[in-house]
Amino acid sequence: LDNGLARTPPMGWMHWQRFRCLVDCDAYPDECISEKLFKTMADKMASEGYLAAGYEYLIIDDCWMAKNRDAQGRLQPNATRFPSGIKALSDYVHSKGLKFGIYSDYGTKTCAGYPGSHGHLETDAQTFAEWGVDYLKLDGCYADLDDLEPGYIQMGKFLNQTGRPIVYSCSWPAYQEPKGVKPNYTALRETCNLWRNWDDIDDTWSNVTSILKWFSTNQDRIAEFSGPGHWNDPDMLIIGNFGLSYEQSKAQMALWAILAAPLIMSVDLRTIEPKFRDVLLHQEVIKINQDALGIQGRLITTINKIDIWTKPILPKGDKGALSYAIGFLSNRVDGYPYRLNVTLAQLGINQSENYKIQDVFDPMSVEVTQSEKIFVRVKPTGVVLLTATPISAKQ
Ligand code: GLA
Repeated sequence: LDNGLARTPPMGWMHWQRFRCLVDCDAYPDECISEKLFKTMADKMASEGYLAAGYEYLIIDDCWMAKNRDAQGRLQPNATRFPSGIKALSDYVHSKGLKFGIYSDYGTKTCAGYPGSHGHLETDAQTFAEWGVDYLKLDGCYADLDDLEPGYIQMGKFLNQTGRPIVYSCSWPAYQEPKGVKPNYTALRETCNLWRNWDDIDDTWSNVTSILKWFSTNQDRIAEFSGPGHWNDPDMLIIGNFGLSYEQSKAQMALWAILAAPLIMSVDLRTIEPKFRDVLLHQEVIKINQDALGIQGRLITTINKIDIWTKPILPKGDKGALSYAIGFLSNRVDGYPYRLNVTLAQLGINQSENYKIQDVFDPMSVEVTQSEKIFVRVKPTGVVLLTATPISAKQ
């Protein structure tokens, strides 16, 4: 969507993966979906370096609403959990230097059963603009498949008419693709700033790899539609929660960077262990994700169960020289760092240049020609992430 927003993949925090639809504030006062939770997370995003690293959107997901609209037909928050109202929460989030995002659903109900926007699109767009919303995740539960594309386009028009810049996150492919319907990606690119392509992420490594499998299988069909202003979205980062090991966390971060994926964390920022926080805040990985070209990386080859992905990048300050990020993702489970060698020529990096190879997570650097071998050791279900920069660019 050409609205000047999301020129690099959006970065932020969203509650769904970590907090789901936890609405029992009597039993879980610190975890329930409430203004208190979002204010606390906003505080942490600002004070713990996340905002400084680029994570700027704090996004409320499902389960914030009251069960009914108000007398004027407007959405309203649950009054017990959001006693100050959404505008006040949005003001608070903005006062921290962050941007504010919210969730609704195009259908008759949200996925968790709260009021849907169907028949209320214009009112809801206006309400969100009045509340100071900067990012809308519009879900697609309880809607007719055929109705989704025109409906999302309509909502995009209403959002545009408010005059407020609002990042528009769509979900219609996530409902069409699993049913074998091929979404119109040209319409997506024109209508949305990002869109969920596939199933929800859950808190397991097998889920991360199955999403990656879907993205690589479909890369020739979908990758070209990703770019500045319009991104394929493989769903949230689950780093720092219960399901991923440290190596798997680095792997999700590296692969999401290579995919030019939105980096939307969903973790309790009050209790996250420092080593996972460091993965989320890793500057070099974020630079790969946020580079100026915004090209979605691709799976190039698989050697001995190691998937090798590349993404052309143009890091700021590198004098316009095309560089590459190279990710080696191990699908192996034999318990030692598996040794592999490749040449840049093998990966299709075929310019008449010599390259400086750097390891992003384990600082080391070597200089190679295209035909010289690069050796890596990839840990089980882990990643090695390299950058290859033309040597002439560094002089
Ligand atoms: C769908 C979406 C999730 C989340 C839930 C909320 O499943 O894909 O990301 O928003 O709905 O109910």
